[in-house]
Amino acid sequence: MPRAAQVVFRLAPRFGRDRSGYRGEAGLAKGRADDDGAPVKKKIIENHPMPNPPTSSTDRLFRAEIQAMQPYVPGEQPQGGKFIKLNTNENPYPPSPRVITAIQEAAASRLERYPDPLGTAFRVRAAEILGVEPDWILCGNGSDDILTILTRAFVGQGEKLRLPYPSYILYRTLSQLQGAGYEEVHFQPDFTLGARFGEQSDGLRLVFLPNPNSPSGTMIEPAEIAKLGERLDCPLLVDEAYVDFAATHCIELVKQNPRIMVSRTLSKSYGLAGLRFGFLVAQPPVIAMLRKVKDSYNCDALSLAGATAAIDDQGWLQDNRQRIIATRQRMTSRLRELGFTLTDSQANFVWCTHHDRPVQPLFESLKKDRVLVRYMNYPGWGDGLRISVGTDDQADACLTLLEKYL
Ligand SMILES: Cc1ncc(COP(=O)(O)O)c(C=O)c1O
Repeated sequence: MPRAAQVVFRLAPRFGRDRSGYRGEAGLAKGRADDDGAPVKKKIIENHPMPNPPTSSTDRLFRAEIQAMQPYVPGEQPQGGKFIKLNTNENPYPPSPRVITAIQEAAASRLERYPDPLGTAFRVRAAEILGVEPDWILCGNGSDDILTILTRAFVGQGEKLRLPYPSYILYRTLSQLQGAGYEEVHFQPDFTLGARFGEQSDGLRLVFLPNPNSPSGTMIEPAEIAKLGERLDCPLLVDEAYVDFAATHCIELVKQNPRIMVSRTLSKSYGLAGLRFGFLVAQPPVIAMLRKVKDSYNCDALSLAGATAAIDDQGWLQDNRQRIIATRQRMTSRLRELGFTLTDSQANFVWCTHHDRPVQPLFESLKKDRVLVRYMNYPGWGDGLRISVGTDDQADACLTLLEKYL
């Protein structure tokens, strides 16, 4: 096969090993070769079929896929001590005061009743803002819930989903929970997508594209995503978790192509990571089918009340967006002056490597000084620091420390 140097089909990965590729936060080797000894840099597509079933132990009570998979590890959430937290792309500012009032009112008046299973008040307001009808919207318990619903709905056992690499690790976990495989297509070095990303392949049932991407903060233009959606036979989910900090979005594409869907979250741009609310925009027949898959009451009464108040306060969103973008620009310039290489971010975080210093020790020093950023090591791609945009004071504290270490 002419592409042999670039494409690796993994048919039987050994049970119990992390086939994910992502080597976590710290203490992990950089630039490793893979099992077959091939330098991982050459691979553009990696196929990860379902792992082999386990052979022993009490874990046998669980489905084989659950035994075999590695858990998804969310970014560190320190519960004690005082940290400047720039590791999980939360908004550093509290949400609109209207959110707090709405939650207090809901808590005082209707906790004894089940919530609206479809979140109609939220959908009506969100639809007005997005220029669609309410039946184009599905509410979720965070956008992770939306990603779960989509994977359950579209990807069966033995089938597969596709994601770009490096990107959001959770997509892999979702495929493994289904007993499905995943196919990682490497971004080009400048974080554009190669033609392979749009090729249909056997058993491919769903494609995830985070836009802006994490960890790079880069974006694929809507015109290119429209073409991608036309080439693919399966659904394409554009994960717009960070899109409120970007210059464009893909809602219009959903109107043009029933296979293109967009997910959003209130965790980042609305300062509501603790509330857990996200939503999907898709054509009504798609939403109707997905309702069969979601939990009956997947969003609770407090999150529905808070989310409705949040999306209603577009003035708060615009002010917050401008503040974050201004701090992002300042962080980007200063980090470049300090010798870091940065992609131009359209999200509320920046991704950086350093031209002559390994970044892992910088991550560790920052942590000792009680500033948490995210160290990420992607075999075949490289490592870097992902630093969330904080308040100006938080960003300055981080930059001052980095300057001191360098
Ligand atoms: C690309 C991407 N999508 C989705 C999410 C999930 O967001 P939430 O479940 O908080 O809505 C995240 C969270 O960090 C993310 O980075």
